[in-house]
Amino acid sequence: MSFSRSVEIVAKEQLKSNIFKFAIKSEEMAKEALPGQFLEIRVNDNLEPFLRRPISIHKIEKQKNELEFIFQVRGKGTEILAQKQVGDKISVMGPLGKGSFQFENHKDIAIIGGGIGIFPLYELARQASKNANITTYLGFRSKDFVLLEDEFSKVSNQLVLTTDDGSYGQNGFAIDYLKEDCKKKKPDCIYACGPLPMLKAVRDFAAQNNIHAQVSLEERMGCGIGICLGCAVKDRNSEGYKHVCKDGPVFDIADVEF
Ligand SMILES: Cc1cc2nc3c(=O)[nH]c(=O)nc-3n(C[C@H](O)[C@H](O)[C@H](O)COP(=O)(O)OP(=O)(O)OC[C@H]3O[C@@H](n4cnc5c(N)ncnc54)[C@H](O)[C@@H]3O)c2cc1C
Ligand code: FES
Repeated sequence: MSFSRSVEIVAKEQLKSNIFKFAIKSEEMAKEALPGQFLEIRVNDNLEPFLRRPISIHKIEKQKNELEFIFQVRGKGTEILAQKQVGDKISVMGPLGKGSFQFENHKDIAIIGGGIGIFPLYELARQASKNANITTYLGFRSKDFVLLEDEFSKVSNQLVLTTDDGSYGQNGFAIDYLKEDCKKKKPDCIYACGPLPMLKAVRDFAAQNNIHAQVSLEERMGCGIGICLGCAVKDRNSEGYKHVCKDGPVFDIADVEF
């Protein structure tokens, strides 16, 4: 079940010049939320921007009745959102998405994320780490773009952090380190979210090596609830389409075209 509520911002932190972390208070949403789901946020009461903006749930704090999300300022909507302060109220719809990360039966998990795609992977790692061995691979362009290193290292048995230019962590692409480790031991499942080239590389590698993989997709969205058909992705098992908002955003990587 999802809710549309006016909720209070209870914490705000600026992680980078254009990246912000907010916590909102909502008992119903915190109770229902699953790792991989997202929120549709109305950034103000005016008609402009009219559409809500989709942002992933980063952390679920059931005890505190709070949800955290992290976002990068991209355009008008996120710019307005970034100006909100603790105590302000915003209209939030969620938790949305039928497809959340499925991890309960897996004992050995690889998580791979790139850039701002790492945000929805954190709650997955946090929950899955209670019962599974987690290796996390995070890729960034350079040292200035590195985020959430401490958070992920606390919920991972092993964290491999890479930068494309070698300015921090391991040099190169995160996927290459994952491939190398898989030669020694295949994980039960790979979970991925990030830029398209990374996701395509994960898809091809998983298919070639017969490894189950799940992906969280980010398509441009209109309604966020399956009405406008704006977020369609081709279903690889039929002639039809799936919708990221309604059927995803998490899919089995082999099921959708991207
Ligand atoms: C399911 C889902 C989860 C998301 N989770 C997060 C998150 O946790 N943190 C975060 O920072 N962002 C996330 N996004 C992306 C975020 O929704 C967009 O950056 C935001 O809507 C941009 O709104 P805006 O008004 O600021 O920019 P706009 O003025 O609408 O667009 C500015 C620029 O951003 C690009 N853009 C807009 N939406 C997307 C999109 N969905 N994917 C790629 N490029 C886009 C546009 O092409 C344009 O170049 C998510 C998107 C989806 C669909
Ligand atoms: S955003 Fe409207 S159907 Fe998905």
